[in-house]
Amino acid sequence: MRYTKAMKQDEKYMRMCFALAKKGKGRVAPNPMVGCVVLDKYGKVVSKGYHKKYGENHAERDALLKLKNNEAEGGTLYVNLEPCSHYGKTPPCVDLIIERKLARVVIGMKDVNPLVDGISKLEKAGIKVDFALKEGAEFLNRVFIKNMTRKLPYVVLKTACTMDGKIATSAGDSKWITSDESRALVYKMRKEFDCIMTSSNTVIADNPSMKHRFKCILDKDSRTDKSFKIYQQGEIYIASRENTPLKDGRLDLEAVLKELFKRGIYSVFVECGGTLAGSMLKEGLIDEIYQFIAPKILNDNSGKSCFNGDNVYKIADCIGGDIYELKKSGTDILIKARLQKV
Ligand SMILES: NC(=O)c1ccc[n+]([C@@H]2O[C@H](COP(=O)([O-])OP(=O)(O)OC[C@H]3O[C@@H](n4cnc5c(N)ncnc54)[C@H](OP(=O)(O)O)[C@@H]3O)[C@@H](O)[C@H]2O)c1
Repeated sequence: MRYTKAMKQDEKYMRMCFALAKKGKGRVAPNPMVGCVVLDKYGKVVSKGYHKKYGENHAERDALLKLKNNEAEGGTLYVNLEPCSHYGKTPPCVDLIIERKLARVVIGMKDVNPLVDGISKLEKAGIKVDFALKEGAEFLNRVFIKNMTRKLPYVVLKTACTMDGKIATSAGDSKWITSDESRALVYKMRKEFDCIMTSSNTVIADNPSMKHRFKCILDKDSRTDKSFKIYQQGEIYIASRENTPLKDGRLDLEAVLKELFKRGIYSVFVECGGTLAGSMLKEGLIDEIYQFIAPKILNDNSGKSCFNGDNVYKIADCIGGDIYELKKSGTDILIKARLQKV
């Protein structure tokens, strides 16, 4: 397909939608982040909007209701997600788009919510529908897509290691591998997630505070108790043999994630050692890894590794990832990689 000037223009306004959508980050879940840009029939931007908060107006409605003289008639509406066609907390956006007589709608991605069929309703009304930057739109709303299609929270595992992949010495000393800047960044990152998940072993080894509004501790035999700092603040959910099924003698991790989802947890930030990380990786439960690598080499094979999996004999059997961000953090580097497309 030839890359035309019109396609370049569509991508420019779709990127604008992405930037607007991100303004709703942290306030719209379980809804997706959505931004909208409206052009009049001459191609001039006449309105912009975004979904600000769960339960409030969708992006299209936010943008169109700002127009007093229907400057949108005959124009183009850009939105990063298919406009809704059903009654939810707000009326269908497609009805308003049809009523305002837009000539064209450019969409980032189709909605994965089976209740939504906005595209055919727009086309039936004679509105031309095009797509732009589909992959970018899906990446932006990857948490929503996983929540909707798998009924599971989106899982990001954070690890901080040496250049030889160690997270603690054989004696369990782990303070501190990474720089002050990286640790400060982790405190910020935690706020972007609904829950922090950790393990009995990590709580017992490090006695971390892990300040957060909701924390899940995997502790099959209830080895941790209120004397540990993590219990001093936030809501705590302890997954133990009392409330969670076992799988191969360990807590069934997918069952824990399902339970968290039922409790309204849409994203989980996992901070643990190699045993739990290895299990989660093997079971395909990690969507992304945030890996801090410090410019240090432990040079001790008995040091604790980021991932304690089983014997793997072929490099072809490595679990592959897709790095989407790489940056310096203090004296360390931070790699953000997606392990699977949801
Ligand atoms: N550098 C870092 O980023 C970082 C972060 C955190 C921790 N650490 C270090 O990691 C070390 C601890 O690592 P670790 O390997 O001993 O422990 P871990 O990986 O943190 O946790 C393992 C424990 O998780 C629980 N668990 C529950 N369900 C499980 C499942 N299905 N599969 C695997 N584990 C399950 C088990 O305890 P139960 O049987 O009690 O349920 C298991 O013993 C500490 O030294 C700590 O300093 C480093």
